[in-house]
Amino acid sequence: MGFFEGVREDIQAIFERDPAATSMLAVLLCYPGLHARILHRVTHWLWIKRWRLLARWLSQVVRLFTGIEIHPGAVLGRRVFIDHGMGVVIGETAFVGDDVTLYQGVTLGGTGKEKGKRHPTVRAGVFVGNNANVLGNITIGENSRVGAGSVVLRDVPPNSTVVGVPAHIIYQDGKRVLITDPKDVKDPLSDVIIALAGEVREIKERLGIGEAVPVPADATSKHLQAVRTLAEEDTERDQYRFTQRPFDPEYTEIASGI
Ligand SMILES: CC(C)(COP(=O)(O)OP(=O)(O)OC[C@H]1O[C@@H](n2cnc3c(N)ncnc32)[C@H](O)[C@@H]1OP(=O)(O)O)[C@@H](O)C(=O)NCCC(=O)NCCS
Repeated sequence: MGFFEGVREDIQAIFERDPAATSMLAVLLCYPGLHARILHRVTHWLWIKRWRLLARWLSQVVRLFTGIEIHPGAVLGRRVFIDHGMGVVIGETAFVGDDVTLYQGVTLGGTGKEKGKRHPTVRAGVFVGNNANVLGNITIGENSRVGAGSVVLRDVPPNSTVVGVPAHIIYQDGKRVLITDPKDVKDPLSDVIIALAGEVREIKERLGIGEAVPVPADATSKHLQAVRTLAEEDTERDQYRFTQRPFDPEYTEIASGI
């Protein structure tokens, strides 16, 4: 694919994906993602021709003007659209497929623990929301979406949506994925919850306090029941706070910190 044909496709992608793109002049002047993408073609060519220092230096000049740092060694596909752009970092061994959309603040970076191929592979049609971090030699499958602010540390299957820190799947192949077991969200807070649940069970057993609350076989209703119970507890607590007790600012302040 020729240089100008690639740029023409990039411009077309902006018109298709950004409703704010109203005129050709505006796109040419006001889209730093387009400028960075065009100049990455130049720096990548210099990198391949082994003019590596020149390529790195030029990529830093591009970063100065656009706020977008794409390592000259990174491989970008066709119609990649970087919207707004400021703060985007794409590492040396990253691979970005066709029709990928990246928002401001996205990092396709390394974990600092790997050598060789140490940056992500982002397959065709992926959408990465603003300030998401995709770290390490992992793969984001075709047409998946990464939520704003997420930190993705593991492979993401195709056609999935992931959110959170660390990211977990909330949609897969168009179906909602409900997390009913804290172990599925592999973060330190979940570990604490699991440990606490174990301790509560043990204490109940020692004190001989009856059987655990019967758990419905269906995992979804279990999840919904937990949510409903929390909501009921909230209402009860509010009633207690504001009706049973005289309104006392000192008490209210302490209570709101619970
Ligand atoms: C991830 C995203 C694509 C999901 O959109 P969606 O499919 O419409 O998902 P929903 O709004 O149905 O959310 C589903 C659940 O995920 C949660 N969620 C959605 N986005 C989230 C995010 N970025 N971080 C954490 N949780 C998120 C919602 O709170 C909701 O949780 P609940 O069911 O427990 O209430 C979207 O939320 C997102 O982050 N888009 C990025 C937008 C962006 O970067 N814009 C930049 C503009 S400059």
